[in-house]
Amino acid sequence: MTTPVAIEVRNLSKRYGNGGGRSVLALDHVNLSIPKASIFGLLGPNGAGKTTLIKVLTGISDITEGDARVAGFDVRTQSMQERARIGWVAAEVILDDDFSVWENLWLQAKLQSLTDWEERAAQLLRYFSLAEVRDEKTNHLSTGMRKKLEIALALLHQPSVIFMDEPTIGLDVGTRRMLWEIVTGVRKEFGVTILLTTHYIEEADILCDHVAIIDEGRIIAEGTPSELKGRVHADIVQLETSDGLDPAAIRAIPGVQEVRPQGNEWLIRVGSSEEFLPRLFAAIPTERIRRISVEKPSLETVFLDLTGKRIGAEEPMGDIRKFYAQIRRARG
Ligand SMILES: Nc1ncnc2c1ncn2[C@@H]1O[C@H](COP(=O)(O)OP(=O)(O)O)[C@@H](O)[C@H]1O
Ligand SMILES: [Mg+2]
Repeated sequence: MTTPVAIEVRNLSKRYGNGGGRSVLALDHVNLSIPKASIFGLLGPNGAGKTTLIKVLTGISDITEGDARVAGFDVRTQSMQERARIGWVAAEVILDDDFSVWENLWLQAKLQSLTDWEERAAQLLRYFSLAEVRDEKTNHLSTGMRKKLEIALALLHQPSVIFMDEPTIGLDVGTRRMLWEIVTGVRKEFGVTILLTTHYIEEADILCDHVAIIDEGRIIAEGTPSELKGRVHADIVQLETSDGLDPAAIRAIPGVQEVRPQGNEWLIRVGSSEEFLPRLFAAIPTERIRRISVEKPSLETVFLDLTGKRIGAEEPMGDIRKFYAQIRRARG
């Protein structure tokens, strides 16, 4: 039996700008098959093509090449039918601050040409615990409440697919976690398929059933978070030394899979950092080590492994305490 699919993307490319001047291939032959009622994450750095994919799938931007079906409709030829079945939460705030919560819902109903929307709207306000602020202007609401209202607006016309472009960008950690619970709850309560984009590793890992990693318009890896992490059978050690390092000496250490320069540091891929570090400290005097960090397999190391780059400017994922314990042990 095949799983029902909510979004099907085949060889989809998008090029911005043509004719004269520089053009950008923002999506490069993308293939995706997104199961119904799943939370699917598109993870990648800034400029990877995430927003472009959402724009193309929601019909805001036209397709250069390839095909896409969303909620059973061809994005190119059945855009009216498709739009009736999808909701969209933009990365930037879309609420009208001069309007109350209820007036924003009214406006959304107008934009969607909905009749008989009041009961659904009231139900959504209860679901999102916004019923008490129904008559408040939206600029009086907390960031978390505003985001919940935006999701409620996207759900008003009972879509089966919701697109969320960086739903938690710029939010503090507490609000972000609250939103993860909301997103999970929305999928369960309303049975919708959610395609979200993010550049937060943790968000993709914790929130999403499936993740596609995108870089420079190409999907470079796809799977469940644990499948993806399982592909990196290695720890990554980053090493900065006070003077030049002979990579051959590092390569000679048992368990080392790869030694790669990155700026003035070295990325060393090893089978097990627990086994590698004592051997490293035996091979080079510890005084020469300026900085060292260890990363266990994460979606960040999957990306690092595939591209040699990092997704965002987030803190390294290694467990610092464990690392210092290793140093102490190695120094005896
Ligand atoms: N309207 C546009 N015109 C030209 N280039 C664009 C336009 N929108 C995005 N781009 C370019 O397309 C690439 C992908 O952008 P985008 O989809 O916004 O990435 P992301 O959302 O992953 O940060 C980038 O190189 C960006 O500069
Ligand atoms: Mg974007």
